[in-house]
Amino acid sequence: MAVATFQAGRWGDYEIKPTAPIEISPAAHVLHYASTCFEGFKAFRWKDGSIHVFRMDRHIARMRQSARQLVLPEPDPEQLAGMVRAVIGRCRDAVPEAPGALYLRPILFGTTANIGAAATPAVEASLLVLASPVWDYFAGGMKPLRILVDDQNTRSAAHLGMVKTGGNYAAAMGPTLAARAQYQVDQVLFCPGGEVQETGAANFFLIRDGEMLTRSLDTTFLHGVTRDSLLMLGRDIGFQVVEGVFDVARMLAWAETGEAALSGTAAVLAGVGTLIYDKKEYRVGSGEVGPLTQALRARLVAIQQGDSPDVHGWLQAV
Ligand SMILES: Cc1ncc(COP(=O)(O)O)c(C=O)c1O
Repeated sequence: MAVATFQAGRWGDYEIKPTAPIEISPAAHVLHYASTCFEGFKAFRWKDGSIHVFRMDRHIARMRQSARQLVLPEPDPEQLAGMVRAVIGRCRDAVPEAPGALYLRPILFGTTANIGAAATPAVEASLLVLASPVWDYFAGGMKPLRILVDDQNTRSAAHLGMVKTGGNYAAAMGPTLAARAQYQVDQVLFCPGGEVQETGAANFFLIRDGEMLTRSLDTTFLHGVTRDSLLMLGRDIGFQVVEGVFDVARMLAWAETGEAALSGTAAVLAGVGTLIYDKKEYRVGSGEVGPLTQALRARLVAIQQGDSPDVHGWLQAV
């Protein structure tokens, strides 16, 4: 892993260390006041053996935005990019072939030792970059997802939804586990006040012939890099791409004949087969993973894996 620390108002040089337990004060800000954020993105091994990281600049920008919202020291973008490249360099041999990838996980957390700092930001912080091989997300086949539509709970405070911080995942955990137990669903689609937002770890799309609809950017949900990439690919192939606020009723009407899918780094795009709302089950389209969902996913995967030209300049050789 790569490790850098922020002290006395500046980031020190990073070091590469074996991935191992780290020492932290029991009074560290993060352990009490959750001053932490992270990122997740992938590097891909192409058929010629070269390794390419996907939209690292966007992930670094999002991490800096998360740090700003949490009043944590912002990582220096060049330093963080250098840390990621150094980690990939150290584990080149461990980068699996497609459809596997090397998953990169930068984390930032406040280390200032002060248990009386509920309303005082951390002035010391650590930035780590971890890496781990990941294999085929759909190894067991592409199964349509069952999703509970939840208009009662929220997965984050409205101003922190766009921040990739542990607290948001903690907020989604209870409702998601309860929904799994009660309705045997894969995920919960959070729709506070009836407005469709996102699931605990992915953005939400409605798709039908020539059209894509997803929520417009605001502070309430994570601005997925995959979401952005799929919208661009949709525009490239002439889809009418609509970003806007839509409610559960509109989603259920769309689902009668259209497709629904979840987007994120892990799966790229995963089709939804069933929505459960107000104790009733609604089949999405045929109930299977839709052809447009599969086609959009295949387009993005082909670019990531070097099988289609990277016309948007999303990949960087490492
Ligand atoms: C809450 C949440 N929404 C959306 C996403 C999708 O973001 P991205 O496409 O950048 O991976 C993620 C992460 O994968 C997430 O944790």
